[in-house]
This record gives sequence, structure tokens and C-alpha cells, in this order.
Amino acid sequence: MSKAPIRVAVTGAAGQIGYSLLFPIAAGHVFGPEQPVILQLLELPVALGALDGVRMELDDCAFPLLADVITTSEAETAFGDADLALLVGSKPRGPGMLRADLIRSNGPIFTGQGKALDAAASENVKVVVVGNPCNTNCLIARHQAKRTNARNYTAMTRLDQNRARNQIAKKAGLAVGDVNRLVVWGNHSQTMYPDFTNGFIGDRKVTDLITDTEWLNGEFIDTVQQRGKAIIDARGKSSAASAAWAALDHARDWFRPTPAGEWVSMAVPSDGSYGVPEGLIFSFPCTVDADGEYHIVQGVELDAASKARIAASAEELVGERDAVKDLLV
Ligand code: NAD
Ligand code: LMR
Repeated sequence: MSKAPIRVAVTGAAGQIGYSLLFPIAAGHVFGPEQPVILQLLELPVALGALDGVRMELDDCAFPLLADVITTSEAETAFGDADLALLVGSKPRGPGMLRADLIRSNGPIFTGQGKALDAAASENVKVVVVGNPCNTNCLIARHQAKRTNARNYTAMTRLDQNRARNQIAKKAGLAVGDVNRLVVWGNHSQTMYPDFTNGFIGDRKVTDLITDTEWLNGEFIDTVQQRGKAIIDARGKSSAASAAWAALDHARDWFRPTPAGEWVSMAVPSDGSYGVPEGLIFSFPCTVDADGEYHIVQGVELDAASKARIAASAEELVGERDAVKDLLV
């Protein structure tokens, strides 16, 4: 192994998402076939036994790129010099709940982990919050960012983008790999806006190929907004493999330049673009440059309906921010 290993911290590593997430990272899916990694895995003390089983399985895969595995219930140990932190560990919602119902139980986790990250991680650590409600949990963790780069605190809406791409490809009867610039704006909640108006399939606009506007404005948006609930209703548990895969996509696409012409959905700290209040963690169309910096795509044309949907999601996030005011002091 010639390159210095990249340190990846994963919280909730013995949970269902963790179990799907760790093996592809160790196999090179995120950083490529030349880049060694060290996995730094955080769990609650009660789950350290299960985590040890996961570590044994990682060992038994004999991944050539896996330089080390650290398992711990100490957040600062898990985040030590981390280059990437995937914050998954938190409660999932159950049937009949909204993600926002988790805010009071999960929110405080992100105060402590934000402090630990800021104390121990690499200054430029890239943070991806998966635990729900992920936008506001990210806001809480980012509030602790004094030393680490506060721009680099993001939340995951890539699963929503992937869901949207699949729905559009199926409706058009075309390959999902050809669906592009189909991004999700806003909160990872029932107000998210999968923006079909700017999407493409190959070099054709989605709206040229799918002329059923009733479906686009109705069933399509509803399906994407409610997909998490549909999976919980069907499985009795929230999405795991697809969520892990989306986290891998988010991370991989943040460590490489975005291919020309493509956009990725990332919930990032708003800089006021598109009228979204500054500081909210909001999903925008983004691109990543050769230095691994993301940029919010500017100048996206939005019709009145799109603007209204984006404003509604921002308003919901303002409400969530108000509900955790005590965690933002
Ligand atoms: P899970 O219950 O299977 O696993 C969660 C793990 O986190 C458990 O092993 C638990 O011990 C651990 N944990 C809890 N509190 C912790 C803490 N303070 N520190 C470290 N570890 C802790 O849940 P899951 O299915 O893996 O889901 C995890 C989270 O991801 C949930 O909040 C879920 O709603 C969210 N999620 C988000 C998305 C998204 O698109 N953003 C998608 C799917 C799931
Ligand atoms: C999802 O979108 O599948 C996750 O956020 C889990 C959930 O609670 O819906």
C-alpha cells in the first residue's frame, strides 16, 4: 500500500445501514481501487458486542485496501483525524411516524457528536449526516464546528435523488443511467421537491419525453416524497441497503469531480441561494470540483410552482430549527 490511508468514521456501525455501508467502503467503492482506508466505527456500549462481529466479518473478507478497523464507544476516538464522517447512528422512525418526530430523541446525539468531531477530526473532515431528521441533525452538529470546516457539514438527500431517477426512467421506459440533472431540493421529508422541470434523459428534457404532466406533478412527486414511508409499511423497518448505497454515492461524488453536465443532490449549508435562509441545511443541485469542493449550482431556472415548493420546504426547516433552538446555543 503506497498511499496514506483515508480515515472513515461511521457511527451506528452495527445498525442495519452500517452493515450495508462498511463492506463497499472497505472494497474500494468510494475511493477507488488504489486507496487504502481505515474504518473507525462508533457504537453505543450495548452494541459493541455486535460491532465486534461486524469487525470479524470485515477481517474475514481480507480486503486488500482495509488498513485497520477501530471499534469504540468513545466518539473522539472514532472521529480521530477522520477525513470522512458518516453520521448514521440514531433511532429510525417506525410506522405512523414522521421523520421530524425523531427530532427530540435524535437531535441531542448530534450535539455531542458535533463537539467530538470538532475536537478530534481532520480540519477539513467531510461530514455526511444520515440519521433522521438528517437536515436538522446536521444543523445541530454543524453548530459545534469551530475548528473544522463548517462548509463541510452536509446531510443526505441522495437516496431521494436515486428514487426520483428510477421513477422517471421507469415511466419513460428508458435506462436509469441516462437520467441526469434530476435533483431533489429541500428537506429530507415529505416536503422535498424532486425537480423534474430541470431533469434530462440523455439530451432530452424529462418534460419533452414524459408529457403526462398530471403524473409528474402528482404521483411522481408523491411517490418520491413518501417512499421512505412505503418501505417502512412494506418491510416493517426503514430502508437500509438503498440508504447505505446512497451514502456511498454521496461520499464518492464528493471525493471526485462531478462529470461534466451532471448535478448531484446534497443538503448543504445554505448561502442564501434561491432565497433559502442562510445556514439552513438544504438540498440543492451541486457539483464538485477537482479539489473536492462542492458548489451550489447557480442560475437554475425555476417556474412558479417549483419556487413555491422550495419555499415550503425551507419554511418547514425553519420550523425544525426553531424546535431545536435549545440545541443551538
Ligand atoms: P438501526 O437502529 O438499525 O441502527 C442504528 C444504530 O445506531 C444502532 O446500532 C444503534 O446502537 C446506534 N446508535 C444509536 N445511538 C447512537 C449514538 N449516540 N452513537 C453511536 N451509535 C448510536 O437504524 P438504521 O436503520 O441503521 O437507521 C439509522 C438512521 O438513519 C435512522 O435515523 C434512520 O431514520 C436514518 N435513515 C436516513 C435515511 C436518509 O435518506 N437520510 C435513509 C434511511 C435511514
Ligand atoms: C428513508 O427515506 O427511507 C429514510 O429516511 C427512512 C425513513 O424514515 O423514511
